[in-house]
Amino acid sequence: MAGELTNNAKADEPDVAAMNEALMLGLVRQHELIEAAELLNAKLQEEIIARKRAEEALVSSEKLASVGRMAAVLAHEINNPLEAVMNVLFLAQATEGIPEVARQHLETADAELKRIAHITRQTLGFYREPSAPITFHVAILLDSVVDLLRAKHFSKRAIVDKQCEKELQMTAFQGEMRQVISNLLMNSLDAIPDTGKITLRAAISRGFRGERHCIRITVSDNGQGMSKSALGKIFQPFFTTKGSVGNGLGLWVSKQIVEKHGGSIQVRSRTSGPHQGTTFSVVLPVRLVALI
Ligand SMILES: Nc1ncnc2c1ncn2[C@@H]1O[C@H](COP(=O)(O)OP(=O)(O)OP(=O)(O)O)[C@@H](O)[C@H]1O
Ligand SMILES: [Mg+2]
Repeated sequence: MAGELTNNAKADEPDVAAMNEALMLGLVRQHELIEAAELLNAKLQEEIIARKRAEEALVSSEKLASVGRMAAVLAHEINNPLEAVMNVLFLAQATEGIPEVARQHLETADAELKRIAHITRQTLGFYREPSAPITFHVAILLDSVVDLLRAKHFSKRAIVDKQCEKELQMTAFQGEMRQVISNLLMNSLDAIPDTGKITLRAAISRGFRGERHCIRITVSDNGQGMSKSALGKIFQPFFTTKGSVGNGLGLWVSKQIVEKHGGSIQVRSRTSGPHQGTTFSVVLPVRLVALI
């Protein structure tokens, strides 16, 4: 009986081994299948992320295109009647026999309208750029920006301190540089409380990575500062904390311009303490190395 059992068990042995082998094979296959599924899943996730990014880029470029269209329409709508009013003012000023007081009023109106025309041309990108970069005095550029925003810093009673050597020169697209500095100054004016302080400084310095022959322009304010999460987003197009009055384009545009000139832009900001406020530093090569 015992011999029979042993024999039967022996006869069964190959089946058990085969079953074990099949089981092992099944497990290996299952493992392989799981791995393949995980790989597929990871690829799918990558594909989803890539598509999402492409969609976001498309939405961004569509938004940009519509902002551009809006700007063109606005410039057209503002500039046309503005020119008509300026022509009428010119005729009125040229009229013989008008009282002196009236002439002075007309001159003031003309000067203010010219300022509006200048602002619309500049803000909406209608500023005619020279076809090549030019060499200019940085102090004059800073003066012209402060002048352009005079009404705004007067109404805030802001203290604007300019620190720049008279002789300091740089080579760049002047209109674009003006746009960068006015974007930074406007942001500071928005951020400071009444009677707040803004410092504009320009000087020869080393670059952020120790490069020689650079100009560093800083715009510092003692305003509200920015949170860490805001700091991570400020150079993205359409990021704004100013609701309907902000477009979220100023810093994005400024960064593009600075990088086009072979420079870089950095920011430091604090929301509390004795050093509360924000400093933007723009570092640019004194002369443009590459042809833009
Ligand atoms: N000096 C600053 N102090 C505090 N926050 C700032 C300062 N500069 C920029 N920011 C923050 O960065 C955001 C983005 O600035 P950006 O200039 O790109 O757009 P904006 O000023 O909101 O709109 P606009 O297109 O009219 O310039 C601002 O909404 C603000 O929250
Ligand atoms: Mg701005």
